Amino acid sequence: MVITRKELIKNYIEFFKLNEHKEIPNSSLVPANDPTVLFTTAGMHPLVPFLLGQKHPLGKKLVNVQRCIRTGDIDEVGNTTHHTFFEMLGNWSLGDYFKKQAIEMSFEFITKVLKIPLERFAVTVFMGDEDAPKDDEAAKIWLDLGVSKDRIAFLPKKDNWWGPAGETGPCGPDTEMFYWRDSKEKAPKKFNPEDKRWVEIWNDVLMQYNRDRSGKYIEAKQKNIDTGMGVERVLAVTNGFDDNYLTEVWQPIIKEIEILSEKKYGKDPEETKAMRIIADHLKASVFIIGDGVVPGNAERGYVLRRLIRRAVRYGRLLGLREFTRKVCLKVFDIYDDYDNLVGNKQSILDEIEKEETKFNLTLEQGMKVFDKLVSEERSIDGKNAFLLYQSYGFPIEMTIELAKEAGIFVDEKRFEEESKKHQELSRTASAGTFKSGLADNSEGTTKLHTAAHLLNEALRQVLDKDIKQKGSNINPERLRFDFNFARKVESAELKKVEEWVNDKINKKLEVKREEMKVEEALKSGAHGEFGAKYPDIVSVYTIMDGKKIISKEICTGPHVKNTSELGSFKIVKEESSSAGIRRIKAVVE
Ligand code: ALA
Repeated sequence: MVITRKELIKNYIEFFKLNEHKEIPNSSLVPANDPTVLFTTAGMHPLVPFLLGQKHPLGKKLVNVQRCIRTGDIDEVGNTTHHTFFEMLGNWSLGDYFKKQAIEMSFEFITKVLKIPLERFAVTVFMGDEDAPKDDEAAKIWLDLGVSKDRIAFLPKKDNWWGPAGETGPCGPDTEMFYWRDSKEKAPKKFNPEDKRWVEIWNDVLMQYNRDRSGKYIEAKQKNIDTGMGVERVLAVTNGFDDNYLTEVWQPIIKEIEILSEKKYGKDPEETKAMRIIADHLKASVFIIGDGVVPGNAERGYVLRRLIRRAVRYGRLLGLREFTRKVCLKVFDIYDDYDNLVGNKQSILDEIEKEETKFNLTLEQGMKVFDKLVSEERSIDGKNAFLLYQSYGFPIEMTIELAKEAGIFVDEKRFEEESKKHQELSRTASAGTFKSGLADNSEGTTKLHTAAHLLNEALRQVLDKDIKQKGSNINPERLRFDFNFARKVESAELKKVEEWVNDKINKKLEVKREEMKVEEALKSGAHGEFGAKYPDIVSVYTIMDGKKIISKEICTGPHVKNTSELGSFKIVKEESSSAGIRRIKAVVE
């Protein structure tokens, strides 16, 4: 069935709304309450506190389309199905329906809405191991729906288990749905999950467990459903393409690259791969900047910088110069339903172009190093090839090409070794960031969330009533809080701020949580984060001192029930964050 991106998203959301789900917003790629992950990687990400049992203001059945970034395998982008940025459709049950209803709804959507014929359909279910039993129940539900026994494969944990997204948290066996995408050959009767012509299109995670710090899987109190359907893949298969880049969410970008480079997509494998990488990386960059990140040397900024530079490098392989603006423009045409892109179009384009220009300068310097190596050593060993890659951003392909022209030898093997070493280091580093974070409802984090609300108000009381929160970052050890203030905060003032917070802690004040409409919350004086997009119904946390409200904020929590739980509040650092913005780091002891 031919279907557009907008139709697919609309059909999915409408389908689940008809099944009593409420739509939740498509959240920022920068996770709001999770300091330890760089990007939103799945639709379930913003929902972790609710999967763990916190009550969601919109109820127990939710649906949305969520923008996601997965950076784990940037280096693998270039094939037909791997993307750094993608959209995920998802539906959730927070302790409401479980396996039967989830699978039945998936089946109905697949067969009735997407009209996928059973001949092209197959599923996998969990085969069982020492942590959890074989999922005969899921298999039986599929059988009862009419999926043949031959089309149900039982696979181990590495294939049929999802989560936790961090080290601990909600997880469970999953059941995955596959589509046969070969247009020439009929799907075999027996499903072979190893055959790459079967493409996974949807994953129903049956969240029955929580993994604890010791790695044990504990039966969860609240059993949830978490599903994820890849928009790009479903668009490709339902429209009969065997390459995601042939769909409408990529073609305008690819076409622009073809025009600028005067090369044809699909002709030369290396050039085709370069086109995919450029399209993928620039699309992801537009979205990342659209959520407020700028290129830099750490964390998100670094990922962004790497994406833009890699796109520029691959552009050079196609003979492209100063091309990012024109290519990126197409991203805005495709995703004109994202307000954060539409409203920031010029600044996003400027930011990418600025990075492109900067990198072009580095590349020129790298050329000088390259020329020197050629004239002095007449060869480029692995270390130097890697230096050119690492410090000047030369792709090995470019070094090889240049070396060939100069008639010299490049030690590709040593380069690979050096590069692998480096990749392992950076993978370990990003895994470290990802670890332990997601489901962070730890005691320390909970206390510091409440401490941040008190600090927010203390700054207004002690320094200036117009102070507003400009950002925060909380982990179990400390809180970081940014606010607008034009000068350094004196130590006597910091002491007063501390005293104000500690006074409220000593007074043992209740922290009350209420749910209300977002307009109502803002009208009642609750502070919200500037620029944040909220669902219709939000949680509001209020702290009262006698009859006086001393703090009222829209927040997803988690929070303590009484300020007395905080112990003692201490500011450990005050510094400048950027022009006009100060930063405080604080702890509770
Ligand atoms: N969270 C699940 C996934 O990303 C649905 O596949």
